[in-house]
Order: sequence, then structure tokens, then C-alpha cells
Amino acid sequence: MVEYRAIRHGEWDQAMALWTGVFGVGGWLFQTLSDSTAGRSLEHTRVAVEDGRIVSAVDVFIRDLRDASGQPVRVGGIGSVATYDDARRHGHSGRLLEQAIELMEREGCAWSFLFTGTHHHYERYGWARTPLTMRQGKVRTEFPVRDEEYRVALLTSDTWPLEAMAQIYEVFNATRPLSHVRNKTCWDIATRTRLEQSERKTLGAWSGGELVAYLSATLGQNEGSVDEACALPGHSGALTNLFVAAAEHAKSRGYSTMSFLLPSEPGIDGAMSQVCEGFEEHQRGHTMSRPIRGGFTMEQVKELFAAPGRQHYELDNF
Ligand SMILES: CC(C)(COP(=O)(O)OP(=O)(O)OC[C@H]1O[C@@H](n2cnc3c(N)ncnc32)[C@H](O)[C@@H]1OP(=O)(O)O)[C@@H](O)C(=O)NCCC(=O)NCCS
Repeated sequence: MVEYRAIRHGEWDQAMALWTGVFGVGGWLFQTLSDSTAGRSLEHTRVAVEDGRIVSAVDVFIRDLRDASGQPVRVGGIGSVATYDDARRHGHSGRLLEQAIELMEREGCAWSFLFTGTHHHYERYGWARTPLTMRQGKVRTEFPVRDEEYRVALLTSDTWPLEAMAQIYEVFNATRPLSHVRNKTCWDIATRTRLEQSERKTLGAWSGGELVAYLSATLGQNEGSVDEACALPGHSGALTNLFVAAAEHAKSRGYSTMSFLLPSEPGIDGAMSQVCEGFEEHQRGHTMSRPIRGGFTMEQVKELFAAPGRQHYELDNF
């Protein structure tokens, strides 16, 4: 007999074994998501249990994301959706997704958000594609002279100025549609652990002794992707210096293009065009969404994904 229910104390290791086995990634990803999400309860992790063994799981991460007018609203992020190979095609994951929808209704979520490569699994339960966009440009041969007001340096795990970064993030994204509200626990656990991944480099820009902007990028084999860049108001020169430093690094690694998973807004657009040219915009189709709360429609969710200046940052993935 299969039970579909909330995870219980003492079962977390079994769920971790399922996720790390199915996704082939380190347990840190699932552990930090759980530890950094405020208001977590056992109810949020739904499991299918057969003869005492967890065979399928779905996790719900409740977050505050900004709506089209910049106000934080409660959103249910669906993640860690997995079923062991030998238990697939029995409807386990589907049952757990139905339970996750009921849970998000009880929790008062306005809508739900997820990342996937298997869209049809979610379409059956009401999620629809809501693509994000990215811009890609060719690295210029010459960059502008750096603004001497700002000193740029690489940030490392010994020196994370997390509090200052959190303040800059908060100010820069205070009314940005789709952006996540990150509290201190989120910064200290999830954001920090993601910043510390070996493929990622993060730079800070200081004016005098004050950190006024930062940029974070992932370095792939053939290309670098800048996926977070935030500045305090009045410091767009700091953004330009950060982008120049990132583009110089890109060039030294032999990259001819760079990708930008960043909002379209004057400071960012200006800095991007100083280091790259010939931009192309691409849709990233791995995101799906679904209204949850009565009165919130799919049209409203889609409007949010089209709102000017919107951004979902990669560091907030789940
Ligand atoms: C995607 C995944 C979670 C689905 O798990 P699952 O428990 O097999 O899901 P379900 O049983 O609800 O649905 C899977 C299929 O079985 C079918 N099915 C459901 N009940 C069935 C039953 N009683 N008999 C036969 N088939 C059944 C469904 O219609 C569905 O068919 P389709 O994919 O051809 O449309 C699982 O394949 C998995 O872990 N994949 C790897 C990780 C992954 O991709 N996760 C999602 C990424 S976000």
C-alpha cells in the first residue's frame, strides 16, 4: 500500500538519498534550500511511502516574490520532484503534486513557480510555460577606461560582505517584479552556499570604504554568464567597472560572447553595452507557473513575467 503524506521526523535522510540519487547532485543543494526557507514545516515536503520506503517526493518552498507593482506576495516554489526509477509511472508524483497544490492553497500562496525540463508532467496539473529571457552579446575588442572613483576586487568566502550585499540587493530590487525577498537566513545559508560554488566568481566595487555594487557570474567552458549585478543608486559607474572587470576576465579565458541574466534597466543596460555588442535576446523556457489563490489568474502571472524591469535571479533557483 502506498501512503501519500507529509514527511515525518526521522525520514529526511531517506528523502535526501532519493534526491541525490535521482538528480546526481550533492545533498547541499536540498539541505540549504530547506534550511534557508522561512516558515518551513514537515507539511511542505510531500512523500509517497511504499512499505516504509520513500519512493517519490515533492518539496514546496514558500517564498515572497514581488508582484507587478513591486509588492511582495506569497509564492509556492515547487522543487525536488523525483520518483525512484523502479516506482515510476504509478501516478506517485502526480498525487504529490495535487497535495502540493492543496498545501499552497492552505498557505495562501498567490501563485506557484517551478523549473523543469519535463513540462508535460506539470501541464496536466495546471502549470503553464512562463519563459524568462536572457541577453547574449559579443565581447567588444576594447573597453572604456575605468572610473577611478571605484575600486573593484574579487570577493572570496573569507571576505563575503554579506550584510552590505544584502542591503544593495534590497535597494536595487525594492520594487522589481519577480524578484525574491531575501531575508538574513536566506543570505547566510542559500545565497552564500551558491556564491561559494567553484564555477562562480563574485566581484565587489567600493567607493572609499563602502561597498556600493557587486556582480556575480558563472564561468562555463565557452562562455561566462553574469546572473546578478546590483548597485546602490547613483553608482552606475561602479557597475561599469564591474562589467569591464568581468569582460576582461571573459576575454582572458578566450570567451567571445557573454550572457546576461539580468533585468533590463538603465544602469545594467548601459554597463552591458560598454563591454559587449550585437545583443540577441533568447527565451529560457524551463520555467512554469500556475495561479493558486482564487482571484489570481494565469493572465496576471503572465503579465508579471512581461513586466518592465522584472527579474528572477539564478541565485534564487530551487
Ligand atoms: C518526472 C518524474 C518525477 C515523474 O514521476 P512519476 O511518479 O513516474 O510520475 P507519474 O506516475 O505521476 O507520471 C508519469 C507518467 O506515468 C503515467 N501514469 C500515471 N499513473 C499511471 C498508472 N497507474 N499506470 C501507468 N501509467 C501511469 C502518467 O500519465 C505519466 O505519463 P507520461 O509521462 O507519459 O505523460 C520522474 O520521472 C523522475 O523522477 N524523473 C527524474 C527527475 C525529474 O525529471 N524530475 C522533474 C524535473 S523538475
